This record gives sequence, C-alpha cells and structure tokens, in this order.
Amino acid sequence: MLVTSKELLLDAQKNGYAVGAFNTNNLEITHAIIRAAEAKKAPVLVQISAGALKYGGPDFLPMIVGKAAEKAKVPVAIHLDHGPDFATVMVALRTGFTSIMRDASKLPYEANVAEVRKVVEACHAVGVPVEAEIGKIGGAEEHVVVSEREALMSDPQECARFTEDGGFDFLAVAIGNAHGFYKGEPKLDFDRLVAIRNLVSVPLVLHGASGIPDFQITMAVERGIAKINIDTEVRHAMVTTMKAYMDAHPEEIDPRKIFKPAIEAMQAVVEHKIEIFKSAGRG
Ligand code: G3H
Ligand code: ZN
Repeated sequence: MLVTSKELLLDAQKNGYAVGAFNTNNLEITHAIIRAAEAKKAPVLVQISAGALKYGGPDFLPMIVGKAAEKAKVPVAIHLDHGPDFATVMVALRTGFTSIMRDASKLPYEANVAEVRKVVEACHAVGVPVEAEIGKIGGAEEHVVVSEREALMSDPQECARFTEDGGFDFLAVAIGNAHGFYKGEPKLDFDRLVAIRNLVSVPLVLHGASGIPDFQITMAVERGIAKINIDTEVRHAMVTTMKAYMDAHPEEIDPRKIFKPAIEAMQAVVEHKIEIFKSAGRG
C-alpha cells in the first residue's frame, strides 16, 4: 500500500530499526525492491532522483512506482532523492510522490534554510514530509585528509539549529559516509552521530550506505539512524549479473531472459539490507 514516509520513519525511530530507501531507474529495479520488501514483510521507500526522473520520464517512472506501491502487500513510500530545486519538487508532488528530499546542502546555511522552508511549506500543505541535509556527504572519488574530512561532516549544534530553523521532518547527516563505492573501509563517526541524536528529535537519515560493512550499519541503527539509502550495490548487482548472463548466453536476444537473473540478484541485495536494517517483519 502507498503511504507517506513520515509514518514509516517515526515507527522506525520509536522501535529502533531503519527503513531501507532504495533507488530505482526502471521497471526491473522497482520489481526487485518491492518483491524483496514483500518477501521480508518490510516497509520500504522506493526513491527516484532527478536524473532518474529525467531518464524514466517524469510521468512514466513515478506511475510505475506508484502502481507497484499501491498493489504492494507492504507499506511503500515514493521518495524524491536529492531534490535539486523547487521545480523538481513540484513535478514530484504532481506525480504522486509521498516523500520529498530537498538537498540544498551545497548552499551556505541561511540559503539552505530558505530553500528547505519553501519546500516544507508546499509539501506540508499537501501532507507530504520533507528530508533536508546539512554537511557535505562526499563522493567515493574524494580523497581528503582527516581534518578536511571532519570539516565536511555535520556539526551537532548546527544540526539542531538547522532542524529548528528548517521545520522539516527528517535530517540527512554527513558522518563520514559517501556516495558510490568506498576506497578502503569507511569509518563512520559514531560519536558525532550520538551527539547529533542527543540534540535532534526528528528521524536521522544515512546516505551513501553501499559498501558500509554490516557491523557499522548495525551500530548506526543502534545509534538512531531511521532511514538508510542504497543505490550503488543494487546497480552493481544488476549490471554484473546481466554481463555474466550475456557472456554465458551470447546468442540471447530476449531482454526478459537477461533481466530475470538480474532482478533476482537485486532482490537478494535488498533482502539482505532489510535484514541488517532490522526492518524485516515491520510491514
Ligand atoms: O541517495 C542515494 C544514496 O545515498 C546512495 O548511496 O551510492 O552508497 O548506494 P550509495
Ligand atoms: Zn544520497
């Protein structure tokens, strides 16, 4: 069933688990995510970025995800991931999203607050919750020394002020997490997470969770992370499985046969994440 993310994340926050938020670009990834959530009886967020919206068509992709969510046996929210501007947020609201992220984290503090407040006003008017971000979540290519690394992270006091000033529903934090695959083992700053948790009452979000070892995910969930974003590991499962199938069956031209093992591989990744997020059985 289609729900908003607010009810999902408040329950996760209250009961000490995290809801998985998995990115989709197409029908096949959407199937894999929903099938995994149903198999594990878990609530889930299916998220679409501005790039995916452009790729899949601003009407078509949300329609596919919306229909899948409506028919799902578990609660599903459709989330705009890293919403880059007000116009994209409007497109998302018009096409049935039930959860919005406005990412203005690259802007100076006051401008970030102003952008977020504008989106909160529009989204709350139609009952849709908003995620905002402070600090800079790195990319995997970044190679920075520790002092620089810390400078990019979310400051606990600033997180508290931002939450108060912004009036949004969920906060994405930068605690050493990065998008894409990590070079070497990531080291999340758990002291910083606890300090943020102690000052901020809204559910906290961890981006860039692909490649973070399971034990660190468990620690993050135990310290109050309630939404965890995964994109890269699902893409990797899809593409490597398709490549392997095509190498083994070079004459195959039926895309359904090529996609079948890829969907199964993606479903397995999502099911494993749901287990370590402790959201299995919560749907
Ligand atoms: O917003 C999307 C996620 O933060 C993706 O993170 O690249 O580690 O899968 P990932
Ligand atoms: Zn992200």
